Amino acid sequence: MSTQGKSDLPLEAYWMPYTANRQFKADPRIIVAAKDVWFTDDKGRQILDGHSGLWTSGLGHGQEAITKAVADQIQLLDFCPPFQFGHPTAFKLADRVLQLMPGNLSHVFFTNSGSESADTSLKMARAYWQLKGRSGKTRFIGRQKGYHGVNYGGTAVGGIAANRRVFGESLQVDHLRHTLLTENKFCRGMPESGAYLAEELAELIALHDASTIAAVILEPMAGSAGVIPPPVGYLQRIRELCDAHEILLIFDEVITGLGRCGAYTGAAAFGVNPDILNLAKQITNGAVPMGAVIVAPDIYNTFMDNGGPNHVLEFAHGYTYSGHPVACAAGLAALELLVEGQWPERVARESSFFESNLHDTLSEKPYVTDVRNFGFAGALTLEPYKKDPLKRPFEVAMKMWEKGFLVRYGGDTIQLAPHFVMARKQITSLIEALGDSLREIAD
Ligand SMILES: Cc1ncc(COP(=O)(O)O)c(C=O)c1O
Repeated sequence: MSTQGKSDLPLEAYWMPYTANRQFKADPRIIVAAKDVWFTDDKGRQILDGHSGLWTSGLGHGQEAITKAVADQIQLLDFCPPFQFGHPTAFKLADRVLQLMPGNLSHVFFTNSGSESADTSLKMARAYWQLKGRSGKTRFIGRQKGYHGVNYGGTAVGGIAANRRVFGESLQVDHLRHTLLTENKFCRGMPESGAYLAEELAELIALHDASTIAAVILEPMAGSAGVIPPPVGYLQRIRELCDAHEILLIFDEVITGLGRCGAYTGAAAFGVNPDILNLAKQITNGAVPMGAVIVAPDIYNTFMDNGGPNHVLEFAHGYTYSGHPVACAAGLAALELLVEGQWPERVARESSFFESNLHDTLSEKPYVTDVRNFGFAGALTLEPYKKDPLKRPFEVAMKMWEKGFLVRYGGDTIQLAPHFVMARKQITSLIEALGDSLREIAD
C-alpha cells in the first residue's frame, strides 16, 4: 500500500526534533492513535510499533489504568508549585521508585526528561564535591558513543559525534573509548571480551588526577548508538576504579531502567550499583513527560548537612514541572502495572527468544555487518551506502514503514525495542519484515 499522499496538516510551522524536516514534510509519517503494540497512521493503517514508541512504552500504548490515573489527577489537582510546596502523589511516587532501585539508593529528584536527568545528575555531582570541600573535582568522564540527551551538560559528556559537532565546548570532559569491538561482532548478549577497556579509566585518572574528576557517567548499555551491551566484567572494573579514586559513578538508565534489560534496572541486570541513577521514558510508560535522578544517602545527606539554617534551600536546582501531579499519577499507575504484570521478568524470560530470532533471521541478510542484543533491545549495523552511513538505515526504516512497521534508525544502525508485552508472533513478524526490507532494498 502506498504511504505517499498529501497531508491536510499545516506542516511548515513545526520545526521537528531530531528529524530530517525537509524529507518528512515532503513525505509525512503521521500517527494519529495508539493502542497496545499498534499505532494507527492518518491513512488508517495499523503499524506495528517495533520500538516501544521511543524506548518509552514497554507496557503497550493506551493503558487504561494510566489514562484513568491521569484523568483523575488532572481533575483533582492540575498543578502544584513544586518549590516550597508539595502534593501527595510526588511523595508516593518517589517512595515507589525507590522500592525498585538497586543498592542503597535512597532519594529521588524529579525532572521532566532524560536530558534534564543528565544535567541534574552532573550538577549534583559537582555541588556534592564542592560541599565536601573538594572544589577541584569538576571534570567529568563520559564515553564515546554515549548519549545523555541534548542539554549542555549531556551534550558535553555524550559521545555521539554528530550530536556534539556544532555546539562547541562547555564542560571539562574526557571520554573513555566505546566498547563496540570488531572481535565481538554478532555477539549474542554481553560480549566476553572487552573488560580491558575499563583500564582506560585508570589512564584518564593518571592523566587528569582524581582530584579533578567529579564523576564518570555511562549508560550501562549504550542505547541510542545502537544497543551496545557492556563486556562481561567491564562495569565491575569501572566501579572498582571509581571507588578507589573517590569518583562518583552515574548510570544513565533512561533506556535501561524499568524493564528493558529484564530487570528493574541495568544496574541489577549487570550487577553493578551506581551512586546516582537517572531515569525517564518508561517511568510513565511514555504517557506524560517525566524523569528522575536517584541518589545514594551520602549524596543527599551531604546536601542536607551543609544546607545552613533550616529555611535555606539545600540545592539551588529544580524545574517548574518537577514532580508534576499528572506525571506522578501516570508514574504511579505505570509502575503498578509494571510490577503487577511482572513485565521485567517476562523480558528476562523471553529475551533468548528475541535474541535467537534476531540473529538467526538477520545475520546473513544483505548489508548487515553486525547484530547486537540484550533484554528486549536489539540493533543491526549496516554497511555504508556510497560512503553515506546514514542513508541505508533510513531506506530500510522507510521500507518498514511502507510495510506497516515502525523501527528506529540512527547513525549506521537500525534499532528494535519490542514492547515488554509483545507476543512472540508479533516479534517474529517484525524481524521477518526487517529481513524482507533488507532484501528488497538490495534488489
Ligand atoms: C541514555 C539516555 N539519556 C538521556 C536521554 C535523553 O532523554 P530525553 O530525550 O527525554 O531528554 C536519552 C534519550 O533517548 C537516553 O537514551
